[in-house]
Amino acid sequence: MRVGTIDIGIEDHQIEAYKRDGFTALPRLAEDPEIAWLRSIYDRLFADHAAPDTGDYRDIAGRNDIAEPARLPQIIRPEKYAPELLQSAHFARCRAVASAFLGIPGDQLDFYGHAILKPPRYGAPTPWHQDEAYMDPKWAWRGLSVWTPLDDATVESGCLQYIPGGHRKPVLPHHHIDHDDRIDGLMTDEIDDSTAVACPLQPGEAVIHDFRAPHYAGPNQTDQPRRAYVLVFMGRPVEVAAPEPRPWLKKT
Ligand code: NI
Repeated sequence: MRVGTIDIGIEDHQIEAYKRDGFTALPRLAEDPEIAWLRSIYDRLFADHAAPDTGDYRDIAGRNDIAEPARLPQIIRPEKYAPELLQSAHFARCRAVASAFLGIPGDQLDFYGHAILKPPRYGAPTPWHQDEAYMDPKWAWRGLSVWTPLDDATVESGCLQYIPGGHRKPVLPHHHIDHDDRIDGLMTDEIDDSTAVACPLQPGEAVIHDFRAPHYAGPNQTDQPRRAYVLVFMGRPVEVAAPEPRPWLKKT
């Protein structure tokens, strides 16, 4: 399939699988030299911005108000610090993929990036959650995340796992990790993971998932970091007439 001038190597049956399951693995989005380039930017950003006093650097699984080694450090909108990320072939391919799967022209998609690091033998699990649980229920979004690992993503290093079809059900009740509102990360206890599907990937391969797809990633039990670069794409939101309550979003 071609989007604009980019051949994204996607077949119609993959779009059907995505609609049915809420996620699907993609062919390679970046070749080795570009992965090496992405890693160098990634490592520079974490070296320069890994300070809790910058609002774009968050430990999603630990508290940001105390000094302790980050359990699941993230940089939100890394493109703010490295705008060259948006000039890359990888970004162009991710936007073309998002356009094809969402059925929205690329120039009408809003987006932001997320760099998520799982340190070797230390990272926390990313507990089961739906990305939509973080969003204001007053707005309905059509969107997806493109998740590209820069290292081998295996079950042992914390690849993504999904519940096929979970995106066709409502947003589940969520709460903050450890029931501690000072921790940013949300999780749900309502998942039966007996049907979970793991998506191991090599560096440069990718998986996409719907905003409502329940997903999980285990802790990194290997001796290597597990670096992942996520690009989130969405169309314009639609106002919801009768928003459902999401009490976990209320700050206490
Ligand atoms: Ni997520």
